Amino acid sequence: MKVMGIDLGKARTGVCVSDLSGFLAGRSITVTEHNRARLIEAILAEIRAEKPERIVVGLPLNMNGTEGFKAQECREFASQLEQSACIETVLWDERGSSVTANRILSDAGKKRGKQRARVDAVAAQIILQSYLDWLNLHPEAKTPKKIERKGEETMNFQELVKERYSVRKFAERPVEEEKLQKVLEAGACAPTAKNMQPQRIYVLKSPEAIEKIRGLTRCAFNAPVVLLVAGAPKEGWVNPFNDRPSTEMDCSIVTTQMMLAAKELGLGSTWVCWFDTEGAKKLFDLPEDQEVYALLPLGYPADDAHPSSMHGSRKSLEETVKYL
Ligand SMILES: Cc1cc2nc3c(=O)[nH]c(=O)nc-3n(C[C@H](O)[C@H](O)[C@H](O)COP(=O)(O)O)c2cc1C
Repeated sequence: MKVMGIDLGKARTGVCVSDLSGFLAGRSITVTEHNRARLIEAILAEIRAEKPERIVVGLPLNMNGTEGFKAQECREFASQLEQSACIETVLWDERGSSVTANRILSDAGKKRGKQRARVDAVAAQIILQSYLDWLNLHPEAKTPKKIERKGEETMNFQELVKERYSVRKFAERPVEEEKLQKVLEAGACAPTAKNMQPQRIYVLKSPEAIEKIRGLTRCAFNAPVVLLVAGAPKEGWVNPFNDRPSTEMDCSIVTTQMMLAAKELGLGSTWVCWFDTEGAKKLFDLPEDQEVYALLPLGYPADDAHPSSMHGSRKSLEETVKYL
């Protein structure tokens, strides 16, 4: 049974996963995130990549074994995560794990700054190993409990669209091929007029392609992947009532679905039109009958990425919606 261990912190949270058979705590990372919803989202991305069957969250009890405010917070977090991930999430006494983690790191000669950055990841490893040691002595506890979601699917979508923002600063972490495929598949599921699917998505990922696009526009930012959204108008539908081609609309829906899928997978993106579309066509030697519409820089948001002031400014429904 693969298990994920979590040491919940105020600013940094350690996440660790075991081997497939659940004997050893292995790779551990630190997620730097204050915001609870964004933290859960980042952990969900790890869950989707690692596919654990159970999650164990460290429970910070007082030294006399009683529960205080921090323990209550952990309980709420664990139950929220269990609902979001639909994976059984258990709590495990974490007393002493941070002290031990600090000791391990200073014995290993880590400087104070580096120690602080790693301590939660190591604490997650200690919590997970302690749980696995117990679990392997209690094989009857290995059957995973089925978790039913409490019917809040629409809320999740609402959260997703509300929390998405244009990310313009990316972490150095590469985008896993599996996630990139999911983003592309979400685009391929988009509705298009008469289902003609005129979109053509070019994945700019090689160092040469990235260098080229960064040379063309500053709005490629430092993203490790840029999706170039193009379309073939002659393959799209044309509205006979006004002769308007639908290709650009089709490509916009494809782009939106990819942008939202990226968010769901813990990635960030920005819809970009600030570039010379004809220049891009020449630069990448695209077929003459295709038009370039947008770029979607894609990657993990940098630790200090944040929404721009524009994100918080939306017209009211009174201004933008009319009931006729
Ligand atoms: C069609 C379109 C073109 C855009 N072009 C750019 C662009 O070239 N550069 C950029 O930084 N942001 C661009 N944006 C992002 C918008 O500025 C951003 O969505 C808007 O300010 C709202 O902020 P939010 O996405 O963080 O909520 C574009 C968005 C759309 C929909």
